[in-house]
Amino acid sequence: MDSIIVTGGTELDGRIPIAGAKNACLALMPATLLSDEPLTLTNAPRLSDIKTMTLLLQSLGAEVTSMQGGRVLALSSHDLTSHRADYDIVRKMRASNLVLGPLLARAGHAVVSLPGGCAIGARPMDLHIEGLTALGAEIELRDGYLHAVAPRGLKGAVIEQRFASVGATENIVMAATLAKGTTVLRNAAREPEIVDLVQCLRAMGARIEGEGTTEIRVEGVDRLHGATHAVVADRIELGTYMIAPAIAGGSVELIGGRRDLLPAFCEKLEETGVEITETNSGLKVARVNGRSHAVDVKTEVFPGFPTDLQAQMMALLCTADGVSVLEETIFENRFMHAPELMRMGANIEVHGGHATVTGVDRLRGAPVMATDLRASVSLILAGLAAEGETVVNRVYHLDRGYERVEEKLSACGARIERVKGE
Ligand code: EPZ
Repeated sequence: MDSIIVTGGTELDGRIPIAGAKNACLALMPATLLSDEPLTLTNAPRLSDIKTMTLLLQSLGAEVTSMQGGRVLALSSHDLTSHRADYDIVRKMRASNLVLGPLLARAGHAVVSLPGGCAIGARPMDLHIEGLTALGAEIELRDGYLHAVAPRGLKGAVIEQRFASVGATENIVMAATLAKGTTVLRNAAREPEIVDLVQCLRAMGARIEGEGTTEIRVEGVDRLHGATHAVVADRIELGTYMIAPAIAGGSVELIGGRRDLLPAFCEKLEETGVEITETNSGLKVARVNGRSHAVDVKTEVFPGFPTDLQAQMMALLCTADGVSVLEETIFENRFMHAPELMRMGANIEVHGGHATVTGVDRLRGAPVMATDLRASVSLILAGLAAEGETVVNRVYHLDRGYERVEEKLSACGARIERVKGE
């Protein structure tokens, strides 16, 4: 397993290109199942999760061709040969469950493994099941798999989600595009990845409105046609690299960055003493004084502060001047980065969904271990500000969601290298 070694203490100065959004692409790729015509995705990120989704779609009989070094994906599911998403794929990547809605809509049945728990929480699928059942699917849990059928096809319905689940919104909206009649999804998720998916579905001939609001309306159509769609910029990668100059000092321009993708996060980052300016190519971020200020953070659904940037923000607040309280309201166990940061000298107390961080002058480099995708990158950020060497192990977590992180950061002057493991 590879490791990444970061030697802290160098201010950053440079430009980082922001890739296409992992969490948009993982919903866009299964959309190919809704049509027998080709779907082309441009600005696709080059990540191991995209490879995993590729393998899953190919196991269903879809053709997925990666071109231009992975930047362009040509998908086609003219002849589906299977409707089963196996446990060994789904357990590695929960987003595999996004084939459920499209398979039900296109083929009338699907067998999808429950993802099982993951490091950050139980992550059940009850909201997916409730929404798809409302559309007329019959879904039964048997030997760890959801067995879903829609014998009489799917029928539009009014659905009120208890919680604005991103994945459930995506599954329900994709299924509704081919249902008979109108579907109204209330308390829909509003994340930019949902907006991006709807724009792609509309390009395929779907009749949808309300994306980005809490109510999405879908008029079912008989079939969808092919399309070409550019994946939206990855707001979580963007936010992660916006924190790099805040924690290490200096300034970085994020190419392709857009403030509207991260409204609450940008406000909070500015409160810590960071200047964010819009440029012709994206966003420029610079720390404007010697030390960041402590701030309180509460994760919420979009447009609130994203849970996927909580770990990275905690790394910044470990060296801020004062006491910060972070409240994680989306996942029940998303502070696993805290003990690793404490090994670097951070002063953090975790009680349930709250973490209290008392800023210290300097962190000290140490060997640390990644436990999930966003925790792993928070340890890299902490390493940028730490004295000495930080060795982050198990970086396969990192490769799931970040393209060439060591290249992007070293291009801005960071002392960071990847060491190939056995
Ligand atoms: C998406 O996961 C993202 N993944 C996650 O990013 C992100 O953290 C999450 O949305 C929240 O923004 C992808 O888009 C591939 P949810 P998803 O359904 O759809 C509970 C990353 O690091 N819930 O909005 O699974 C669930 O347990 C990943 O890139 C139910 O209770 O998130 C969680 O507590 C991590 N029942 C909360 O809702 C359900 O049926 C949010 O889940 C579904 C979800």
